Amino acid sequence: MKNILVLVGSNRKDSINRKFAQALEKLAEGRLEFEYFDLATLPMYNDDEALDYPASARHLKDRVAAADGVLFVTPEHNRSIPAVLKNAIDWGSRPWGENSWTGKPTAIVGASPGAMGAIAAQIHLRSIMVSLGAFLMTSPEVYLQMKPGLFDENNDIPNEDTRAFLTGFVDSLAAWVGVAQERAAA
Ligand code: FNR
Repeated sequence: MKNILVLVGSNRKDSINRKFAQALEKLAEGRLEFEYFDLATLPMYNDDEALDYPASARHLKDRVAAADGVLFVTPEHNRSIPAVLKNAIDWGSRPWGENSWTGKPTAIVGASPGAMGAIAAQIHLRSIMVSLGAFLMTSPEVYLQMKPGLFDENNDIPNEDTRAFLTGFVDSLAAWVGVAQERAAA
């Protein structure tokens, strides 16, 4: 089974984006194994530590390296990605010459209570990951407006249309990781 490292861009206990990730995880059962990295374990990036990485940042890089793919599930803070997520991306991108994101199969989704579904944050994140050379899945785009009842207490999705749409996203992610593996093996 393919393993996906999930980075939820929120350190909030009741994060709607974590709930969203857990609902996707349930849709992916049997096909993709989701593993989570807690961004709150990372100190703030400091380039003085670039040659002697803190253990948590080294751990992040090891987890990215071991993953078949990375899934970002991001909130939007002031029309961009939250600082905790940018911090993790910065740690992953260094030291110079050891960018963990290069060639990594990567996908992006995000949720917000607002109708725009974290679109500005996701567009920024796409731009960042393209600049870092990730193997970025560009469609389907998922700008999720979080509403009460969208996910139930078991992380199931009662609405059939929403469930079908998000199942399509999971299908695409599984296929995207497969394409990357075939390319690597060729
Ligand atoms: C927000 N929020 C927000 N929402 C949005 O759609 N666009 C935005 O620009 C912002 N800006 C913003 C800034 C800051 C500092 C905070 C704390 C929040 C609201 C945000 O979508 C909401 O808090 C979500 O619940 C955040 O996702 P998590 O943490 O619940 O996953």
